Amino acid sequence: MFHTPIVPRKRPRPVEAGVPRREQVKFENVRLYLVERKMGHSRRSFLTQLARSKGFMVEDVLSDTVTHVVSEDSQASALWTWLKGCDLKNLPSMHVLDISWFTDSMREGRPVAVETRHLVQDTVPTFPEGATPTPVATVSQYACQRRTSTENYNKIFTDILQCGRSFEVEKILSDERYQTLKLFTSVFGVGPKTAEKWYRAGLRSFSDILTEPSIHLNRMQQTGFLHYKDISRAVSKAEARALGNIIDEAVHAITPDAVLALTGGFRRGKEFGHDVDFLVTTPELGREKSLLPDIIDRLKQDTESGPRVQREGILLYCDYQASTFDISKLPSLRFEAMDLFAKCFLILRLKGSKVEGGLNSAAEDHRGWRAVRVDLVSPPMDRYAYALLGWTGSRQFERDLRRFARFERQMRLDNHILYDKTKNEFLAATTEKDIFDHLGLEYIEPWQRNA
Ligand code: UTP
Ligand code: MN
Repeated sequence: MFHTPIVPRKRPRPVEAGVPRREQVKFENVRLYLVERKMGHSRRSFLTQLARSKGFMVEDVLSDTVTHVVSEDSQASALWTWLKGCDLKNLPSMHVLDISWFTDSMREGRPVAVETRHLVQDTVPTFPEGATPTPVATVSQYACQRRTSTENYNKIFTDILQCGRSFEVEKILSDERYQTLKLFTSVFGVGPKTAEKWYRAGLRSFSDILTEPSIHLNRMQQTGFLHYKDISRAVSKAEARALGNIIDEAVHAITPDAVLALTGGFRRGKEFGHDVDFLVTTPELGREKSLLPDIIDRLKQDTESGPRVQREGILLYCDYQASTFDISKLPSLRFEAMDLFAKCFLILRLKGSKVEGGLNSAAEDHRGWRAVRVDLVSPPMDRYAYALLGWTGSRQFERDLRRFARFERQMRLDNHILYDKTKNEFLAATTEKDIFDHLGLEYIEPWQRNA
């Protein structure tokens, strides 16, 4: 027998008003309300229909009969401020949930038990008139004031949930255009503009693109198609480590005192990633300018002997972008979303023999190697701490760190600098901890930055 895990509430059942609904109600104790703010009107209508088709009751209006409020608003405080202004008697007993509870429930076809991770935490204090506020443990709206480990995030399943939508919802939500653009932009070297152009030209599949004579793929896209399967496949920690050894050897053959650091998701302790990110520099200021070109040259030479020298080389693709960062322009520097350091986007050929425990490849794959995306970034040493903090991520953590700096400290932070607007000065840092100190934040370890 089906047992609903939700505690039934005793309340008079209101008379069903309005248009009679064809869908059969399966869950009498659950009444949903979807918050339109941030979700948007059409998505809300769609999700409403989806839920009703699965036997859920969805209220159009927020009233005291609602048991579950579902929101896609990532700003908990804004949501709670709004809810508290709605004059609801039952608000304290309502579940206020993020979309992950909804997508879980749609996938299961029943209201799933409410877990802590589903809750939109109330961060807005409410003090009755005349009462002295007592401190309550609240969860900060800033990820940089929270410690988020990789627990739960390593399973592919929960990674899906992180995106806020389950496969099923995704499938139904998607129209042809959305699906096609998603497919096209999944190819390395294909951005939204190109994808849109191809869609407008009536192309719908990879074979459409590859057989269309009028389409000329650039080298990046050619490589993207050539290694599509490998690049779409997750990179394991062991593979990241093996690549670290290869890069380390190349770097230190060039400059013995070079500094190499693993960044990105792997520095945060993730088990899998979509690429491997490294920061590389040298203590000697200015020397970093030739560092990446030298490393690339060395990787190019790293080929196995034999007639197929080119194809056996480790460097399958390289897009090098020289630095546009000019420290002398610092006082007038604009705050950049993209950083200006020298970097290269690589595709490397990684042999299974170099990877402890072997490659993360399909069982039927007997090539003994796979292609992997690697990013190398090379900031000057005096920018190292900012670059390391920026490239370690997560993206959400970085966004919140910048937001915190800006709105709570009147400072600007990016991958190059930390600037104090009230003092009109740049704040020096040689370690990440220095930056946290300047911001008046407790230090958060890399593996706790998985927001
Ligand atoms: P990634 O996109 O590699 O993300 O960028 P990730 O966290 O390592 O995740 P996966 O496992 O590869 O998918 C790493 C960090 O580098 C920053 C991003 O903000 C992210 O936090 N980054 C990326 C920059 O600062 N500048 C860039 O040009 C690109
Ligand atoms: Mn990465």
